[in-house]
Amino acid sequence: MSFLSYQTLKKFLFKLDPETAHTLAGLGLRMAAHCPPLQKCLTRHYFVTDKSLEQTIFGRNFKNPVGLGAGFDKNGQYITAMPTMGFGFTEIGTVTPKPQEGNPKPRLFRLIDINSIQNAMGFNNKGSYYMLQRLKKITFFDYPIGINIGKNKVTPENEALEDYEKLFKAFKDYGDYVVINISSPNTPGLRDLQNESFIKAIFAMGKEITTKPILLKIAPDMTAEDAITLCNTAVEAGADGIIATNTTIDYALTDSPYKKDFGGMSGAILTDKSYELFKAIGKELYGKTLLISVGGIDSAEEAYKRIKAGASLVQVYSMLVYRGPVLIKEINEGIIRLLKKDGYTHINEAIGADWK
Ligand SMILES: Cc1cc2nc3c(=O)[nH]c(=O)nc-3n(C[C@H](O)[C@H](O)[C@H](O)COP(=O)(O)O)c2cc1C
Repeated sequence: MSFLSYQTLKKFLFKLDPETAHTLAGLGLRMAAHCPPLQKCLTRHYFVTDKSLEQTIFGRNFKNPVGLGAGFDKNGQYITAMPTMGFGFTEIGTVTPKPQEGNPKPRLFRLIDINSIQNAMGFNNKGSYYMLQRLKKITFFDYPIGINIGKNKVTPENEALEDYEKLFKAFKDYGDYVVINISSPNTPGLRDLQNESFIKAIFAMGKEITTKPILLKIAPDMTAEDAITLCNTAVEAGADGIIATNTTIDYALTDSPYKKDFGGMSGAILTDKSYELFKAIGKELYGKTLLISVGGIDSAEEAYKRIKAGASLVQVYSMLVYRGPVLIKEINEGIIRLLKKDGYTHINEAIGADWK
């Protein structure tokens, strides 16, 4: 599939309502994963690997540093198709203990004029049992996978820990890392759990249950000072990494006539905000824990900025919708080019270069 053909496909997909388009794209991915010659051909075209990009993280080989952000593959249905889009790893979920419908539709919108997305999905997913069955089926597949976990909407905040306990237990033998998601804006009260006592309690509990690395994903809608305090608390409590950031509820960021004051916004609208917060976190936490940057990454230059600010890995979601898999190829090839330009032979030399 060439860049042009994704643009053609996009013309068709963008005529559909965004959720239908997402379901269709998912179907296409599953088909590709079930057709070895097609899978081989797409992977050869889009999947970039080079010695300078390869890293061992959490004891696992990451062939390139660009992953798919959580929320695209909520049920772990497309994992084996991810290399066909060029991703070096994928984060599935958010998965909740019980299946849930999510918020009423429509709940997903394109802000086409500003290359952004607005969503109020609310963790629509088939639940942990379903995802577990998916993971059991693909144990042959050698590919880094993160599992992003969240509480059910009906679970009151004071019982949230029990939901996370169920999820740590369910997935303790699967995936390569677990992400605690308490930063989605679409589950009422969830972001309130981004506090010291909850962070301490959840990491203490998680560490008792699983030996998998546990990461915290944070929201962009807080001051740098608060974010650093939160991340430091998480690291002291045993966090193996930080993912920054989730979507933003800063509706003042745009006066796009299409925006609505609900849900979370992502894509180009989030690029600067996410970078600024990530940079502040990187300055304090680079070297103390693994950092993953996500939020409006739309080019190799943007990804490289995050790497220099301390990101070992980056993730993309919204701009994949606008640009297609060619973007992932461009980012990886661009990172190789930018490493060379700076006189580096390996990505490790660039990670955190701003603070060395
Ligand atoms: C439609 C949609 C659904 C999302 N669902 C989740 C989710 O279930 N869990 C999560 O941690 N992040 C979720 N996200 C946030 C992304 O993983 C990412 O953090 C955010 O969109 C910023 O990256 P981007 O600008 O590259 O999209 C979702 C984003 C979008 C657009």
